[in-house]
Amino acid sequence: MSLFKRKEKNKYEGTFVDSRLSHIAFIMDGNGRWAKRRGMPREYGHSVGAKVFKRVSEYCGDIGIKHVTVYAFSTENWKRPQKEVNAIMKLLEQYLFEALDTLAEKNVQIHFIGDRSILSEKLISLMDKVEKESACNEKILNIAINYGGKDDIVHAVNNALKGGKTSISEKDIDNNLYTAHSPSPDLIVRTGGDYRISNFLIWQSAYSEFIFTPKLWPELNEADIDNFVREFYTRQRRYGGL
Ligand code: FPP
Repeated sequence: MSLFKRKEKNKYEGTFVDSRLSHIAFIMDGNGRWAKRRGMPREYGHSVGAKVFKRVSEYCGDIGIKHVTVYAFSTENWKRPQKEVNAIMKLLEQYLFEALDTLAEKNVQIHFIGDRSILSEKLISLMDKVEKESACNEKILNIAINYGGKDDIVHAVNNALKGGKTSISEKDIDNNLYTAHSPSPDLIVRTGGDYRISNFLIWQSAYSEFIFTPKLWPELNEADIDNFVREFYTRQRRYGGL
């Protein structure tokens, strides 16, 4: 059972987690397998995955996690069949249309991380609109679209060099990453049973804690998040010290 019933969210908002867990990130893996096991097309798994994304990201905000980042589409995901790519882009578009009406009430600011320049013009203008209209809200939801950790670093270095510098520092890179507005993730959760980072937040995760669960993304629920948070609080973070 979930620690906090959703209807009670206002009562408990911000009281569960503290500043040790200000940023959680998710590698939302397993949509395709979840659908196949039910004899359904992979696209069906993504549509259920999109609902779970909405529920889980809202729940993380409700329990007081200020920054949530999700890996929705990687720089490598273009290798998938066009039908599947189109389905994911359509789900994103649908989510963003709905979000325009709900983000103010939920106090959520959306940022897209990744190279949006090659997306459709329609999607880019919707993304710009959502970012602009939600910019004054407090909680942060980073959605990674056409995102790759290696690309993030290259993009950051090139931006940092634009000012005419001939060498750059770690701080310069931090300040120019797509995620410059968020702290490094405290916890990264990967569903789907694989133990890898798949080019997600590779610079930012230098000292993140990781949880890998065999559960497939569409199976994830609030009680799982509670368990991840409990597990996170058992970890000793030493950052290379003693
Ligand atoms: C990985 O599972 C999932 C993706 C590449 C897409 C994630 C997309 C969503 C959750 C829905 C759309 C998102 C938003 C933000 C509305 P997989 O397909 O690789 O699963 P598999 O490993 O079982 O094949």
